[in-house]
Amino acid sequence: MNISVKPGKLEAVRSEAVVVMIVEGEKLGPLAARVDKALGGTMQKLLKRGDLSAKAGVVGMLYPEGKIAAERLIVAGLGRRSEMTIDRLRLAAGKAAVAARSAGAKNIAIALEGASFGLEETGQALAEGCTLSLYRFLKYKTKEDKNGKGDIVSITVMAEKATAVKALAKGVRNGQLIADSAVLARDMVSAPAADMTPGHVAGIARGLGRKHRLKVQVLERSQMRKLGMGALLGVAAGSVQPPKFIIVEYRGGGKKPWIALVGKTITFDSGGISIKPSEGMDKMKSDMAGGAAVLGAVANAAALKLPLNVVALLPATENMPSGSALKPGDVLKTMSGQTIEIMNTDAEGRLILADALAYACRYKPGVIVDIATLTGACRVALGPEAAGMLGNDDRLKQQVRAAGETTSERVWELPLWDGYCDLIKSDIADMKNTGGRDGGVITAACLLSKFVQKYPWVHLDIAATGWIDKDRPYTPKGATGFGCRLLTQFLQDYVK
Ligand code: BES
Ligand code: MN
Ligand code: ZN
Repeated sequence: MNISVKPGKLEAVRSEAVVVMIVEGEKLGPLAARVDKALGGTMQKLLKRGDLSAKAGVVGMLYPEGKIAAERLIVAGLGRRSEMTIDRLRLAAGKAAVAARSAGAKNIAIALEGASFGLEETGQALAEGCTLSLYRFLKYKTKEDKNGKGDIVSITVMAEKATAVKALAKGVRNGQLIADSAVLARDMVSAPAADMTPGHVAGIARGLGRKHRLKVQVLERSQMRKLGMGALLGVAAGSVQPPKFIIVEYRGGGKKPWIALVGKTITFDSGGISIKPSEGMDKMKSDMAGGAAVLGAVANAAALKLPLNVVALLPATENMPSGSALKPGDVLKTMSGQTIEIMNTDAEGRLILADALAYACRYKPGVIVDIATLTGACRVALGPEAAGMLGNDDRLKQQVRAAGETTSERVWELPLWDGYCDLIKSDIADMKNTGGRDGGVITAACLLSKFVQKYPWVHLDIAATGWIDKDRPYTPKGATGFGCRLLTQFLQDYVK
């Protein structure tokens, strides 16, 4: 899909659909008023009758029949000005784009009015809202849905003033780049585990490396063994698919300390010998959502030419039961030298992260952020509204929180107090890999905290946000790409 910015008047655009935005509780802005005048006042009339609404995220469609050049007019509500956020703009643009697609339009134009944000920010939000809302995963469909309509091919953002084009276009470009990376993450997460093995993930990393001139290294089992990655190898022991430890480096920051991004990349989580119930197990193809997010973020750092050094680390493996699989009661020796007693082979994410975090410490990083579909307990605690956040550094937590507010991928902090960490004491090893039912999000993070040394670190649990069962604003149900935009924003803000 191509998104461009052009100067001009909306009434004159020969498009299959044009979009105007309106604010609740205000009279029509000058542009909408002009369009309404051309329509003979229909918009006003329908608004008064309640057939059109300016409520946030509500869209209506009118057929101008020659009174303006476009075939359809989509009126998108932004809600009240006092409650206006940049996210409302993403929502309105997304709803309008989906309505246009449902009506069969291939080319649409959006006019800018109503929202009171900077031009760049506005362009970015429009591009993100449209791209993210229109996402569909159709790779495995051989026939069109019965009522399926084709994709939207082009979106034109109309700038009333020619002087606005440049800043808008810059925002649109960045928005599309960032949304596209989230789309790539969604595609990776949506793909069946058979087609998204550790080897496939490594291939995608290599492809991004070529495109963005990143240094990509893929460690094989023998190299993991040399490094002493007993935890990652333990989880991989039951799988026929060889594990990969994927390292993607972007060097744009000269001598600055590294920012390490670590993403859980379990390409399928059956639970292993502590096997999961069949119900919902298919969703466990999404257990690599953290890895997809960090891969997108490091690629964006390069594409945006951020003056930073960023390394993304993806410990990638399946978690499978077999004769050679890890067993409850086993003790694994991690790369850090610490040992972990396995109580439940389904608590595998923290194991692979333990080795990846230890590897991150080799970079002497300025900060470490890990992101992982780690615990069902996080779904119980927070649901899909927010990712769980835990860490050892207030400043870093604040930076991550702020980035999440900007992108509307919110995080909510949970405490990492010593008392919780007592719950993973083992009788025979340095720690055990589960802490019982109480505080499951936290005890998982407690284990991770033992592998980050003294480096500032934040952990994000995206078990409930990486995959959703119901549509959310500009996020169709299924894979969300959660974290990709957040981490990109975090990196962008880090520069400032
Ligand atoms: N990948 C799962 C967590 C998960 C559950 C993600 C549901 C997305 C949706 C993780 O590896 C897991 O199995 N965690 C266990 C830990 C338990 C055994 C301590 C869990 O949450 O049940
Ligand atoms: Mn598991
Ligand atoms: Zn898992």
